[in-house]
Amino acid sequence: MYKYSCLNPIAQVGLDNFTTDYRQVDDVNDADAILVRSAGMHDMEFSDKLLAIARAGAGVNNIPIDKCAEQGIVAFNTPGANANAVKELVFAGMLLASRDIIGGIRWCEDNASDENIAKAAEKAKKQFAGTELAGKKLGVIGLGAIGVRVANAATNFGMEVYGYDPYISVKAAWNLSRAVKHIGNAEDIYRNCDFITIHVPLMDATRKMINRDAIHMMKRGVIILNFARDVLVDEEAVLNGLHSGKIRKYVTDFANPTTVGQEGVILTPHLGASTEEAEDNCAVMAVDEIRDYIENGNIKNSVNYPNCDLGECHTAGRIAVIHKNKKGVISAYTTPLGDADINIADMSNKSKGDYAYALLDLDSAVPDDVIKRIEENPNVIKVRVIK
Ligand code: MLT
Repeated sequence: MYKYSCLNPIAQVGLDNFTTDYRQVDDVNDADAILVRSAGMHDMEFSDKLLAIARAGAGVNNIPIDKCAEQGIVAFNTPGANANAVKELVFAGMLLASRDIIGGIRWCEDNASDENIAKAAEKAKKQFAGTELAGKKLGVIGLGAIGVRVANAATNFGMEVYGYDPYISVKAAWNLSRAVKHIGNAEDIYRNCDFITIHVPLMDATRKMINRDAIHMMKRGVIILNFARDVLVDEEAVLNGLHSGKIRKYVTDFANPTTVGQEGVILTPHLGASTEEAEDNCAVMAVDEIRDYIENGNIKNSVNYPNCDLGECHTAGRIAVIHKNKKGVISAYTTPLGDADINIADMSNKSKGDYAYALLDLDSAVPDDVIKRIEENPNVIKVRVIK
């Protein structure tokens, strides 16, 4: 029996994919796997029992992924599962920033009791007028699952779209419309675009990437959209840009004390992924990832360990070895297995940064003393007998 714990509500359609071999528990210290959405995990201690954490979402800044890697806990995310939901809200943001739709709605509410509202509206409407998306230049920074969808959809709105991503994946590149101009540096986006939307993960290299210098390069009247993470943007610099008129609107999905109530800021409460469809997709993907890892040892969409997939096990035994990515560590498990006369029928050893993962299909089951010998190697973090 495996146990899992949910730190946030996770869509039932995903949890229904756990078989009767799984049971939900409240005590995270008793769990083999944790599912999480936005709960902060940086102050948590993890039990030796914990095998995996899956985030029902793309960003993983609420999970201490390095600490997890050190402890041999595989952290997963669900890339793409909520991308359409975020894309749709980005378009809502662009439209809300183009005309004062919010001001117009408020005006209608404020004048609800006016019998002559129809006539008054015709007079009032000019104060809410704005511009169109068609013909404007949109810069998309970060061409992952969300950025590609935003870029492609914007071409259908008649926008001239520029995409920037020095790390674009082959899959994303295949999905990108040929109408999107892929450019080699962010500065070209800053200098040329009327709308700039950011879709990169939060890392040291991307923290405050939209800063005073970047804003300085931008066109007067630029609209900036942030549906990724607030700290990607130096929001004090953005407020200065709004006050000076350099920035027309800042649309952000991250309510915080800096931006709340500020003139020119259109603020939503982290709604990007909050659709039934996205929540279902994320939950289904997260549960699939956890099950494949627990039951087969396969890793897909991990943010701290490499992908590794040997499918289902058809040999007598399968073990997984989580280890440091150092020279010669492979012998930590090949030698004890060889000494015990156990043949390796198939194996995959992959590395990601300082860590590596080996999955081995064996012609016989592995006795405890052999597992113990592998575990004794100081570069081995965790050994798991899967079959
Ligand atoms: C994400 O990183 O994909 C979103 O923050 C998901 C969410 O809203 O939970």
